[in-house]
Amino acid sequence: MVSDNQAIVRAAAALEAGRLVAFPTETVYGLGADAENPDAVAAIYALKGRPAGHPLIVHVPDGADLSYWAAVIPDEAARLAAAFWPGPLTMILKRAAHVPASVTGGQDTVGLRCPSHPVAQALLSAFRGGKGGVAAPSANRFGHVSPTLAQHVRDEFGNDVRLAAVLDGGQSEVGIESTILDLSRIKTHGPVLLRPGRISAADIAAVIGKAPVGADAAAPRASGTLSSHYAPATPVVLATAPEVAALCARLKEKGRRIAAIHYSPLSAETQSFLFSWQMLPVSAAAYSHGFYAAMRTLDGVGADVIVIERPPGGDAWEGIHDRLRRAAHGSAGVLEKLLA
Ligand code: TXA
Ligand code: MG
Repeated sequence: MVSDNQAIVRAAAALEAGRLVAFPTETVYGLGADAENPDAVAAIYALKGRPAGHPLIVHVPDGADLSYWAAVIPDEAARLAAAFWPGPLTMILKRAAHVPASVTGGQDTVGLRCPSHPVAQALLSAFRGGKGGVAAPSANRFGHVSPTLAQHVRDEFGNDVRLAAVLDGGQSEVGIESTILDLSRIKTHGPVLLRPGRISAADIAAVIGKAPVGADAAAPRASGTLSSHYAPATPVVLATAPEVAALCARLKEKGRRIAAIHYSPLSAETQSFLFSWQMLPVSAAAYSHGFYAAMRTLDGVGADVIVIERPPGGDAWEGIHDRLRRAAHGSAGVLEKLLA
């Protein structure tokens, strides 16, 4: 059930007291702490099992004063905030001096995002009377698939007493993490896309008149850019639509238990090879909405492999292809073993 105002006000008080609160956003659920309380921020790392030195995104309410958090606000940042906030865009800017090093990973930049989910907005407005910021990574253990339901967060952390509350906002609408755009070195490097998401490179270019370039080796660290991030425990194999049927037949011949995520209709024969499957819609927005939940469900059925039909190309699918590559990264060589 979606959390009511009373639960949100209690959660804001818990944050003010230095405790951790999980909350829904339109992308994925976040694990929040007062961004200006280093002990509370340290508790996020401990609960997630996340290595220190990975910076966190600071979530701010609609209309927040960016100059409180950022030392430099390029004109492009102001235009992007006007166009896409509240919404699934994170901007990396030069940090203000008072932002704790535990939030920024010791770097001279800070990630800022204003989420659109009404429960997130209500929490951010209640927290310190709308004057604070909530540092929050996705509310999953390090390296796991991000949560898109309150139940996913409970599945990750159980009844851990370190988590004061899990606010419920239903299923996250976007379903994959925010687009991350580095504007901290825009004068020398231009806008740099660190993580693709619902807001695409073309959407950004349309607002600032400059197409973002991809992250290079000199770009700031982002744990979401580790190649093996966002992976289920079950091996993942990607296959093009025409390959899926033959691949499933060969795996079945070897007695493998096959799970599949697909969007094209499957023949009755292919379906008979499958242990479990999830069909997702062919539109990028609807696909990403259901993608992590489908991966979590199939990760729990005890399959030997999750075969994922590669979605179509195109700008709108960039964020999904990025997450698919990461999900499959640790599974290199697995297919040969399963077919041996
Ligand atoms: O949609 C989202 O962004 C979700 C929701 C909860 O807002 N949050 C999220 O947080 O995905 P997390 O920590 O799982 O991923 C945030 C990414 C990390 O890869 C982190 O390294 C990067 O953002 N990041 C944060 N601040 C940064 C900075 N100052 N410079 C470079 N990368 C940064
Ligand atoms: Mg994450």
